Amino acid sequence: MIKIKNFWQNIKQPLLILAPMDDVTDYVFREIICDVGKPSVLFTEFTNCDALFSAGREKQITRLKYSERQRPVVAQIWGSNPINYFKTAQLIKELGFDGIDINMGCPDRTVVKNKCGAALMKNHALTAEIVNAAREGAPNLPLSIKTRIGFNNIETETWLSFVLQCRLEALTVHLRTAKELSKTPAHWEESLKIIDLRNSLSPNTLIIGNGDVKSYQEAEIKIKNYGVDGVMIGRGVFNDLWIFSKESNNKEHNMNEMLIIMRKHVDMFKEVWRDSKNFNIMKKFFKVYINNFPGAAKLRENFMNCRNYEELNKLLISLF
Ligand SMILES: Cc1cc2nc3c(=O)[nH]c(=O)nc-3n(C[C@H](O)[C@H](O)[C@H](O)COP(=O)(O)O)c2cc1C
Repeated sequence: MIKIKNFWQNIKQPLLILAPMDDVTDYVFREIICDVGKPSVLFTEFTNCDALFSAGREKQITRLKYSERQRPVVAQIWGSNPINYFKTAQLIKELGFDGIDINMGCPDRTVVKNKCGAALMKNHALTAEIVNAAREGAPNLPLSIKTRIGFNNIETETWLSFVLQCRLEALTVHLRTAKELSKTPAHWEESLKIIDLRNSLSPNTLIIGNGDVKSYQEAEIKIKNYGVDGVMIGRGVFNDLWIFSKESNNKEHNMNEMLIIMRKHVDMFKEVWRDSKNFNIMKKFFKVYINNFPGAAKLRENFMNCRNYEELNKLLISLF
């Protein structure tokens, strides 16, 4: 029998995880996060299994770049073709990742139309095929799924019971339906039911709750009150880069400190992505770095007006 190298079992509590976020949690941002306060586990932004085996492969491979200090690091993938899941799992194993996560929660219209992401909640047969294919491709890597509590309605008893029978090492549940997008408050109370289901159907699967957590302390409270094994944090990191550090979260940081971090991000972004990622994608990080200090709004506007690296560098240099 193949033994799974299950890093999930050896993590110190509290288990706090950086959420996968497309065009956000790339190699560059994960490096920055490791500098300021490292989460227990990091997830890559999602990578499409079909694109990995097409002409666009090179850009997709950059999405799977990581460094040793980012471990344990999990590659998140999505798609609808089981054969490509098998091949992608083999690749992820060769690249040396610590785990594989399958996205079954993305509500994006195009993703759903292509039978991927949240659409899998409505297709148990394809879900089972995909899980089997990914496991066959990397039999000794822990396998997890990130999903939601249902598509149109809360389907904890049906959908999550089904997923919990897929013998996963971990299951992350964004506590909203796909229809709710990120617009309503997360249904944390559902996690109590999910824990009960886990206890009866798959006691060894870790349950990670996700949705609206805004501080380290709030994550600790969620773990205590709802019995989840860990908490995944996404947008909370935009308001507080230090959210994963118990000591430094919610402290004030001065302009100079933020600009030094931003400078590092900009330089690394240029080096890693070269011209393959649009310069404007980086602009969403300006809100993270140029925030919460006197004069931040005006300065951010100046940064937003930069059209290329040259203009950005000039502005940064003038501020140091
Ligand atoms: C910009 C952005 C990109 C996202 N990309 C992904 C993704 O690639 N894979 C995924 O599973 N979820 C993705 N999500 C969803 C988050 O992982 C998370 O489930 C959601 O934001 C709720 O958690 P939060 O309230 O802590 O942000 C994304 C969310 C945002 C805001």
